[in-house]
Amino acid sequence: MSRALRTGLLLAASFAATGLITTELHAAPDPLTPTGQWSVTARGQAPLPPMGWNSWNAFNSDIDEEKLMAAAKALVDTGLAAKGYRYVDIDDGWWLKRRQNDGRLLIRTAAFPSAQTGDGNTSFRPLTDRLHGMGLKAGIYSDIGRNSCGQAYTADFKGQPEGNVAEREVGLYDHIDQDIGLMMGEWGFDLIKIDGCGIRAMSPENKLVSSGQYRALGPLVDYENLSRTDIPAVRDLYRRVGLALARTRPANDYVLSICLWGAADVRSWAKELGNMSRTSEDISPNWERMLHNLDSASRRELYAHPNSWNDPDMLYVGTGEFDTAHVQEARSHMALWAMLNAPLIIGYDMRKATPELLSILGNNALIALNQDAGGNQAVLAYDGDTAQIFVKTLADGGKAVALLNRTGGPIDVKLTAAHLKLREDSGIDLTDLWTGAQSRFTKEVNLHLAAHQTLVFRVAGARAHPGGLYLSEMPGSVNPAVDGIVEPMADPMVHRGLLPWRNTRGDGEHPIYGGWGGARADATPYGMSLRIGGVNFSSGIGALANSRLEVRNAGYRNFAARVGIDDSALSPDARVRFEVFADGRSVARSGWMKRGDQPVALNAPVEGARIIELVARGDRGDLQNVTVTWGAAALDR
Ligand code: GLA
Repeated sequence: MSRALRTGLLLAASFAATGLITTELHAAPDPLTPTGQWSVTARGQAPLPPMGWNSWNAFNSDIDEEKLMAAAKALVDTGLAAKGYRYVDIDDGWWLKRRQNDGRLLIRTAAFPSAQTGDGNTSFRPLTDRLHGMGLKAGIYSDIGRNSCGQAYTADFKGQPEGNVAEREVGLYDHIDQDIGLMMGEWGFDLIKIDGCGIRAMSPENKLVSSGQYRALGPLVDYENLSRTDIPAVRDLYRRVGLALARTRPANDYVLSICLWGAADVRSWAKELGNMSRTSEDISPNWERMLHNLDSASRRELYAHPNSWNDPDMLYVGTGEFDTAHVQEARSHMALWAMLNAPLIIGYDMRKATPELLSILGNNALIALNQDAGGNQAVLAYDGDTAQIFVKTLADGGKAVALLNRTGGPIDVKLTAAHLKLREDSGIDLTDLWTGAQSRFTKEVNLHLAAHQTLVFRVAGARAHPGGLYLSEMPGSVNPAVDGIVEPMADPMVHRGLLPWRNTRGDGEHPIYGGWGGARADATPYGMSLRIGGVNFSSGIGALANSRLEVRNAGYRNFAARVGIDDSALSPDARVRFEVFADGRSVARSGWMKRGDQPVALNAPVEGARIIELVARGDRGDLQNVTVTWGAAALDR
């Protein structure tokens, strides 16, 4: 999108200069032109973050029908299903081969005996029927390339596809319509997770390829380098999956889970195609990796919306450093995923679940946070290497706050009324969501956090901005449709841990791309405080020049903001003009502004408008990293 934007603007500028604008030359539309639309996908059904169970973290690829049905039964018997954990998802390891005369996928019936149909075919229909009969939903797994992650990365993989090279090509590539029709139509699955190892790992240089075990493909994705990733090609493959799903499931009753681990600029396009999208590489059951996955999603609060959620990967609650001997860590993991609106997908062998574990996974108050109808991912009110404070605005206007101690020793932190955007001069009530304990403070309170502890509270108090909501309190309703990134950069903020499988071998984990520079709530795209002409804004939206933000308006009558180029912008020469649109109609506009100018107030009546768009147009299409601020941006009644 960013490159298209740049080309579009450069073309428009040069044609305008030469007076050459013709109908044909308008072919590349200006992406900053308001559309009056909400562009987050309406395909699929995930108005709230999906919840359920997946086989991968519990069993790796060693999955079979007995284990799967035991998990399904446990979800029902323990009451977790009634609390929302409904998806039962098969991950890698289910497939046997692709039949060559007709391209049909065959299931490993040794592991899934009910899939044997007698006519030489195999079908998951008996299994999905059983799951549906239990009130559950069923999920399946595939890869967008020809081969799976297990084939690419794990030599001793259980349940590896069998046969010759072509028979072992079990991924969707060249079979999108057929496989989607089979899995989501004939077999009746409700969710499909689509991995990307087949377009990432099958380079001609790979020994598995050069030795003749697999065919070369691309690679289209280089996990570490966007410059070596064919973003349009990757996106187009997932777009074709979307079309196949729409054809197969016209009732729109499915979930598309994109598994590209934050690569291929998926952050900027998943919201138009998928219902959940992985923001990082796989989680593993240790604290450092949990922090890594947390960080990959925690600063992308504006990229998670109803029907398209950030997915920092599945829960590891119950295992390793999140087992019941590490209750502090297990609770933190659960609380943080709940606050981030992450899909809550259990990855534990449910046959072994203890009451203690169930009390964590089944905590009603935390599930309610995750499933809150407001659909707002928590926003970082304090962002540090040691402590972080996350605040989530709920559908009823109330708040939840989580205070995370990232370190291995105890710390004291201060929670302030300002973190919560509540008044300092009246009482603020806290309800601890683990213990139910209630407390009250005014202005600020000192809280003690044990090592790796996350305190999480429901909050009630008097709003500092009583007339409506700041946009930064409703990230689920703000969509950076065009984020203005010209040259994507790797994200330096994501925790780079000591990987258990690598330790200090190699030169460590590097910053990788994952959305650095995207719009933020209450921060600039690079994590600075919002500041225009020396004026600080504790609330607001930080974006880049040449961006267009869509805002859903739930009945508010007025939009107000104080706008300008942020003081953190590097270029003193850039000029930016700010404009507000209501259902495509211009309702307020600033003049051209430069860095250092005082903030300009924009006020606009927006009553009756469904979509408000905030456009920050630069004087050049190639402005790089010019931060702009919609200070104190709010919708008021
Ligand atoms: C990738 C995915 C995991 C899992 C495995 C299966 O690593 O990121 O979530 O699906 O593949 O092989």
